[in-house]
Amino acid sequence: MCAQLVSQTVALGERSYPIHIGSALLQRGDLLLPHIRSKKAVVVSNTTVAPLYLETLSATLRAGGVEVLPVILPDGEQYKTWETLNQIFDALLRQHCERKTPLLALGGGVIGDMGGFAAACYQRGMPFIQIPTTLLAMVDSSVGGKTAINHPLGKNMIGAFYQPRLVLADIDTLNTLPERELRAGIAEIIKYGLIRDAGFIDWLEAHLPALLARDSTALMQAVARSCAHKAEVVAADERESGERALLNLGHTFGHAIETGLGYGSWLHGEAVAAGSVMAARLSQNLGWLSSDEVARVEAIFAAAGLPVRGAKLGAARYLELMRHDKKVADGRLRLVLLKGLGQAVLSEAASEAQICEAIAACC
Ligand code: NAD
Ligand code: GLY
Repeated sequence: MCAQLVSQTVALGERSYPIHIGSALLQRGDLLLPHIRSKKAVVVSNTTVAPLYLETLSATLRAGGVEVLPVILPDGEQYKTWETLNQIFDALLRQHCERKTPLLALGGGVIGDMGGFAAACYQRGMPFIQIPTTLLAMVDSSVGGKTAINHPLGKNMIGAFYQPRLVLADIDTLNTLPERELRAGIAEIIKYGLIRDAGFIDWLEAHLPALLARDSTALMQAVARSCAHKAEVVAADERESGERALLNLGHTFGHAIETGLGYGSWLHGEAVAAGSVMAARLSQNLGWLSSDEVARVEAIFAAAGLPVRGAKLGAARYLELMRHDKKVADGRLRLVLLKGLGQAVLSEAASEAQICEAIAACC
């Protein structure tokens, strides 16, 4: 058990919202109920998370006089689709939900992204609350308002920017998270170090064993430091016209792996890990990173038990898939690369031949 509570703010003017990180937060009506201004609330979750945490959350809501309408979806990245999204809309309409009815997403990034997109669309926008239960969702997807579903031709291609009113990250829920999912979340934590916080890389190298052992103090520190980075970047560039793109280190390569192999084959964090190694290798080929620095990038992902080699799709297929990336501008690929550890840049400097070379070297 971890007694601390860390609270941060995503500063977006009148759409600013708190992130609370701590232990036993699902039971904290004092943190949750002030954001619910309705007699009923929809909780979107899935068949894995609902049996674990829906009742605890529902009891907190009921104690505050709020009726709970659960919507339980199938579990998996392969269900992040129009069809599943429609199941949410069907339930909202059948239950006569109104524009002020809040939608709470209880689960990992898949539930958060889909629940958020549903909340953005239903009656043109209903209040939305993120209750992340995976490490990845706590450190990344629940903060910042990116919501989406996948398309067979590209990941997260259909979606909206729609900020939550509250993010409630109950660290205790990580105790039931499968080992592989914990490691996938660590990939997104390492990402913050690589793009903007070299000191965090040192901290992570020292604390990876504690994180993998689910030490609650280490997890709190890692989640809080990651959320602080995410909140700062989102406040500066909500709609990704500049700095926010840097949060996509490894994602252009990684999304190609996820789409190329079929959604759900590799976990998102696994694809980000291998993609980040490719980005590091390409940065080295451009003369921006030393071989020692690339080795350090590989070593930290490997120490977290994450893949450091990409899927063997072939460089041409990678490029085809990467052309669907949301950072493509006027048909040109733009990649997040490293000009030093802790110093990411968005760059068009790499030629297709250099990109292919980095892919081949890393697969
Ligand atoms: P996920 O939502 O699929 O969750 C991983 C697995 O863990 C699922 O099987 C889930 O049911 C299970 N699970 C969740 N919480 C659990 C718990 N406490 N105990 C036991 N099992 C639990 O995957 P994820 O890694 O959380 O999220 C990945 C998704 O997030 C991808 O679709 C990715 O595109 C998206 N994403 C979005 C953003 C954003 O900014 N919106 C950022 C990063 C990733
Ligand atoms: N996960 C990248 C972003 O939110 O911008």
